[in-house]
Amino acid sequence: MKKILNLISKAAVVLLMLSLSSCYYDEILEEVIADDPVDEVISFAADIQPIFTESCASCHPSFSEPDLTVGNSYSAITDGTYIVPEDLNASLLYQTLLWEVSPMPQSEQLPASEINLVKLWIEQGALDN
Ligand code: HEC
Repeated sequence: MKKILNLISKAAVVLLMLSLSSCYYDEILEEVIADDPVDEVISFAADIQPIFTESCASCHPSFSEPDLTVGNSYSAITDGTYIVPEDLNASLLYQTLLWEVSPMPQSEQLPASEINLVKLWIEQGALDN
């Protein structure tokens, strides 16, 4: 009988430790979520233009539509239908990244993280920041 009681108490201690450690991991998870860049203000110059420079500008030089080169791209894409602040559906450039219309870049879709940066930037008002 004593042995059984001893076993039960050991099992209780293990269960208690398990439940405590799961709380601990929940806390860590919350911290990771809080650090997610979703909370950050996306910068056109630091986050968006480098994507254009790396993946688009070779085919979109200054004489093309849209011009995606450094210094020209912002005005080229925000004065028409390419980017409509806070409106993803009306933003043709965003739709091309999703390969919904005129898939861009044609060779391979951008990584989801980069498409997400463009999405957040448009949702945040497509600032020239
Ligand atoms: C390999 C060359 C190439 C690359 C790389 C490329 N484009 Fe294009 N893009 C084109 C051509 C050619 C057109 C015009 C013909 C067409 O619409 O398919 C075009 C058209 C577009 C249009 C207008 C679409 C329309 O329906 O009017 C947008 C917006 C665009 N590109 C954005 C981008 C973005 C953003 C990138 C980078 C993520 C990119 N492109 C990369 C060649 C390219």
